[in-house]
Amino acid sequence: MTIDRRDFVVSAAAAAGALSLPRRAFGIGIPDADPIRIGVIGCGGRGTGAVRDALTASENVTLVAMGDLFPDRLASARAQFEKLATETPDFAKKMKVTTEKTFTGVDAYKQVLATDVDLVILATPPAFRPLHLEAAIAANKHVFMEKPVCVDVAGALSVFKSSDAAAAKHLAIVSGTQRRHDPMYVETIKRIHDGAIGDVIAAQVYWNQGSLWNFARKPEWSDTEWQLRNWLYFTWASGDHIVEQHVHNLDVANWVLDAHPIKATGLGGRQTRTGAEYGHIFDHFAIEYEYPSGARVTSMCRQQDGTTSFVGERVLGAKGNSNARNRIQAESVWTHPPMQGMNPYVEEHRDLVASIRAGTPLNEGRRVAESCLTAILGREAAYTGKDITWDQLMASNLDIGPKPFALGPLAVPPVPMPGQTELNRTFSEGW
Ligand SMILES: NC(=O)c1ccc[n+]([C@@H]2O[C@H](COP(=O)([O-])OP(=O)(O)OC[C@H]3O[C@@H](n4cnc5c(N)ncnc54)[C@H](O)[C@@H]3O)[C@@H](O)[C@H]2O)c1
Repeated sequence: MTIDRRDFVVSAAAAAGALSLPRRAFGIGIPDADPIRIGVIGCGGRGTGAVRDALTASENVTLVAMGDLFPDRLASARAQFEKLATETPDFAKKMKVTTEKTFTGVDAYKQVLATDVDLVILATPPAFRPLHLEAAIAANKHVFMEKPVCVDVAGALSVFKSSDAAAAKHLAIVSGTQRRHDPMYVETIKRIHDGAIGDVIAAQVYWNQGSLWNFARKPEWSDTEWQLRNWLYFTWASGDHIVEQHVHNLDVANWVLDAHPIKATGLGGRQTRTGAEYGHIFDHFAIEYEYPSGARVTSMCRQQDGTTSFVGERVLGAKGNSNARNRIQAESVWTHPPMQGMNPYVEEHRDLVASIRAGTPLNEGRRVAESCLTAILGREAAYTGKDITWDQLMASNLDIGPKPFALGPLAVPPVPMPGQTELNRTFSEGW
């Protein structure tokens, strides 16, 4: 093969570009002998949990950088890690964070990304995920990002774009929809796809439970600090609980049906958490989704104390049914054998690192953004009291996050009111 001058110039330019690109990008993979250096942005409950899971999942991974908006959250995460390191030799070996690589404030994410990390865990409240993902991919980092990955259409479009950019750069994106990495779910849904229950006609998905944590406002907290310390209760920050929690079950529905819905009809409200400390979100939703095949998915979620808890899925096919997780009932009953010690929160990190090492990076960005949009579609059907199609949602300018984000004054938007709340809402209009 001969190389003409033009080809040479192009490949020399590509090689020069590659020098400034991520260490070991372009499908080359990271050899087992090289450590994968991890940074975490958002050091709360799940950020610290995800670090533990990532360090448990693989050999030769190290935590080198940490960032959080609030110094007390960073300090308590570091204290937890230091305690764990004294108790667990394997964790001690992998804990390489020095004070120079710990950052706080609104720009902490930029500082973590400016270090030598190969992989970054994004675990702030969902509002920041699109911005942090975009910055991480621009900085040539592999990503583990917690769900939800967006709370509005503008955020979803940004995640689509970043996911495509990651694919072009051979960077991995795995999201915290851990059921997708649970071998029992994987096998059961494969059997459904292979026809074990015939054509899927309908499904029911649930996340019903009691209420969650709430931190009393301190006098020194600005509006934004108070809202972010209690981010669950503000739609701009969490997406509301249908997005924040129930996205797990809606993701299973999309997985089973291999599609996103085309329309939602829904209702919801706020009956038990009516105080100002609970922001403006709903405490219950019930949604019916229509899928392209004609299948219908009924979805319910609530956070109300003293009520029955149930989290799970049921799938109805023309020839049988399944719980999507480990059981299929058709002509005969099949159950997945129990998997002692298997932890899907660890499996997702094992799969991520294996894909980076192999040079075949997983990229779940678009898929998880679609599942978040599914939850947003249901939320908007309930908030507005109108049937909403996927196309109407995508054509809307729903964009509810404060921009630019800063700590300071921030009014609480009104509680959504069916029949009055509009789909086309932007932060500048009080949302
Ligand atoms: N996959 C799962 O099953 C699962 C379980 C729990 C939580 N989550 C998700 O993980 C994410 C975090 O949840 P959590 O329970 O850890 O919440 P948390 O409140 O405990 O932690 C969030 C952390 O992010 C920090 N933070 C807020 N804004 C920031 C910013 N702009 N920059 C840097 N840091 C910022 C906060 O100070 C806090 O320490 C959420 O998206 C949540 O839905 C997923």
